[in-house]
Amino acid sequence: MILADKRLLITGVITKDSIAFHAAEQAQREGASVLLTSFGRVRRMTERAAQRLPEPADVLELDVNKEGDLTALAASLGERWGGVDGILHAIAFAPEDAIGGNFMSAPVDSVLQAFQTSAFSLKALAGALAPLMEGGGSIVGLDFDASVAWPVYDWMGVAKAALESVSRYLARDLGPSGVRVNLVSAGPLGTVAARGIPGFDRLATLWPQQAPLGWDIEDPSPVASAICFLLSDYARAISGEILHVDGGFHAVGAPAEL
Ligand SMILES: NC(=O)c1ccc[n+]([C@@H]2O[C@H](COP(=O)([O-])OP(=O)(O)OC[C@H]3O[C@@H](n4cnc5c(N)ncnc54)[C@H](O)[C@@H]3O)[C@@H](O)[C@H]2O)c1
Repeated sequence: MILADKRLLITGVITKDSIAFHAAEQAQREGASVLLTSFGRVRRMTERAAQRLPEPADVLELDVNKEGDLTALAASLGERWGGVDGILHAIAFAPEDAIGGNFMSAPVDSVLQAFQTSAFSLKALAGALAPLMEGGGSIVGLDFDASVAWPVYDWMGVAKAALESVSRYLARDLGPSGVRVNLVSAGPLGTVAARGIPGFDRLATLWPQQAPLGWDIEDPSPVASAICFLLSDYARAISGEILHVDGGFHAVGAPAEL
């Protein structure tokens, strides 16, 4: 069990389709203790999903944009566990007018909201909880390849480019304390967040055609396995990395058969 005795904080579970739900499930099967976070009106959905884990998990309050929530979360983790060994950041949000073909017209307030919730929040979460990782630890975030422009992804794509950079700067600044920071760059998966992007289906159709290994948009388990690997000591010398879990899509420029 590669995560035996690890204390993991997992954000971003909203339904059992969430990538983070599958990560929590696999992490528990690998021996980890897991706490989830949620906030506001979706909290009841998270609590329902939490009951469906192999070991029902408690849900702590976290709106990642609220300083007070971050402080209270750190205090709560300190009281419960005395520390934390791993964190999954599985958080993203962009207002409707910043995605789905609205790149040129998006108002700056919407762009800033996408940046704060989807990119700056990795620093906010890491900054609040790194002091609890006294013996070192692992922080993992979720990326969608930001090295190119995509249809419909718009300002979320720009936010992901920022997230990639934020993770490298965090790797730089937290490395001396033994804290590793990495991203998993996932292929498209049919979650609440993804289906909220108008035109998501276009990406979802393209992916299985081009990925050398094929790709199942209904199966987040390969992404969850990679998250567990990065949270484990097997990845102890890996930091500032972006691990593509996308069926090999990123490595080829066009589908083998047109
Ligand atoms: N689904 C995909 O195709 C795909 C592909 C690559 C990367 N990702 C990334 O995976 C991560 C998880 O998304 P998902 O696809 O599992 O969707 P999801 O909708 O299940 O999860 C998104 C989560 O973000 C949380 N969130 C939004 N705003 C928040 C805030 N202010 N504070 C705290 N939490 C907040 C939501 O509550 C939700 O739990 C995101 O970073 C997403 O960009 C998804």
